[in-house]
Amino acid sequence: MSQNELRAPTSGKVFIKTYGCQMNAYDSERMLDGLTAKSFTPTEHAGDADLIVLNTCHIREKAAEKVYSELGRLRRLKEAHARGGKSMQIVVAGCVAQAEGAEILARAPVVDAVVGPQSYHDLPGLLRRAAQGPVVATDFAVVEKFAALRNAAISPAAPRRVTAFLTVQEGCDKFCSFCVVPYTRGAEVSRAASEILAEARRLAANGVREVTLLGQNVNGWRGVGLNRREWGLGRLLFALAEVPGLRRLRYTTSHPRDMDDALIAAHRDLDVLMPYLHLPVQSGSNRILKAMNRRHDRDAYLRLIDRIRAARPDMAFSGDFIVGFPGESEADFQDTLRIVDEVSYASAFSFKYSPRPGTPAADRDAQIAEATKADRLRRLQAVINAAQIRFNAGMVGRTLEVLLEKPGRRPGQLAGRSPYLQAVHVDAPPTRIGDLVEVEIVASGPHSLTGRLTAETRPMAEEFDS
Ligand code: 5AD
Ligand code: SF4
Repeated sequence: MSQNELRAPTSGKVFIKTYGCQMNAYDSERMLDGLTAKSFTPTEHAGDADLIVLNTCHIREKAAEKVYSELGRLRRLKEAHARGGKSMQIVVAGCVAQAEGAEILARAPVVDAVVGPQSYHDLPGLLRRAAQGPVVATDFAVVEKFAALRNAAISPAAPRRVTAFLTVQEGCDKFCSFCVVPYTRGAEVSRAASEILAEARRLAANGVREVTLLGQNVNGWRGVGLNRREWGLGRLLFALAEVPGLRRLRYTTSHPRDMDDALIAAHRDLDVLMPYLHLPVQSGSNRILKAMNRRHDRDAYLRLIDRIRAARPDMAFSGDFIVGFPGESEADFQDTLRIVDEVSYASAFSFKYSPRPGTPAADRDAQIAEATKADRLRRLQAVINAAQIRFNAGMVGRTLEVLLEKPGRRPGQLAGRSPYLQAVHVDAPPTRIGDLVEVEIVASGPHSLTGRLTAETRPMAEEFDS
């Protein structure tokens, strides 16, 4: 029996593997909602699954290549299943699907459907079509996708959570010369404020206490407001701050050019808006920033950081950096090292430049040798690590408000987050998950803090025990 004759299941168990950014994590949850609303149940094990979805990332070459090695493993699994008379469908979703389309079917014939990030809202329908033969769905149907999200219910199979993502905007019009996002996620489209508020209320009613608004260029959000006029993200945050039960708001990822006055005012005026901002700069060198088409220079970025800190003095920043962009000299790289200390980042992510087919920088001469990239990455990461250690060490002895999210590493321990997104470990019973508590920080490491509940937040029973 050929595998094609076994291409059947439109119900059964589904396993979703997610790569890449938080928006992919959000999309995977929505795919699961759509499938469980039909006749699928989630499984944690690929081996049990009737349907496997790989929700993929195309941002760097390594991320994209992982998908093909996974498909090699899945081919063997599917063949083994076929020998036992069991069928299995394999879907490649996300940004590799969008970027490579039908090429994926040519390179990995085991795949039944290729579904771009704007097309998954009709996954059950696509699966029915895929039962007749391979399907490629890579239209930019963002408006339809948002319309489908409006009616989506939260999956009864979804675990109850304290924190959640909420997509408010998709796509990017900035066209940084290294980046595939404007091609894979398309032009910027913003959801209406009424839809975002309805989803936030639904999440809060389900026990969510912290919402992170997501968008590839989230602070570029320009949506229809409640008064039918256009709003910006600042105005939206003021409205979200009123949602009963929501105690914390965050948003990511922002472009420096779109930090407007209203958004900075939201940081000044809203206690629920956390004093932490992911604001990538990518490079500290003016020459490289220009070649990257970032549309701002080093000084404009540093002035912006100052303005935000003037509005909210305890604001913490994180960033992204690329080393080894074409033409980057040692002097350019030194400018990047310096900006890490000038900003005093709370955390930062750094990457070796990866030429992405179809982006302007990929074809430039003056590509940097791999060994140089590796050396610069190592040096940058040492500086970032030191900044993180300093930032975390500065918390010792302070009392921070922590949202307790889940069991910790050790029994009797819970893990939560500080306002500055630091992981905090604290001894507390599982009944406290979902609570905002005061924690006195007693120790710090590069990636987390340890603390103890202060007297005010210790539950009565524990007071009597001790
Ligand atoms: N090579 C290396 N890093 C990249 N990023 C985006 N495109 C590339 C690329 N071609 C990084 C940027 C971005 C983060 C999500 O990924 O730093 O902010
Ligand atoms: Fe990519 Fe961000 Fe630049 Fe948009 S702003 S092109 S998503 S790096």
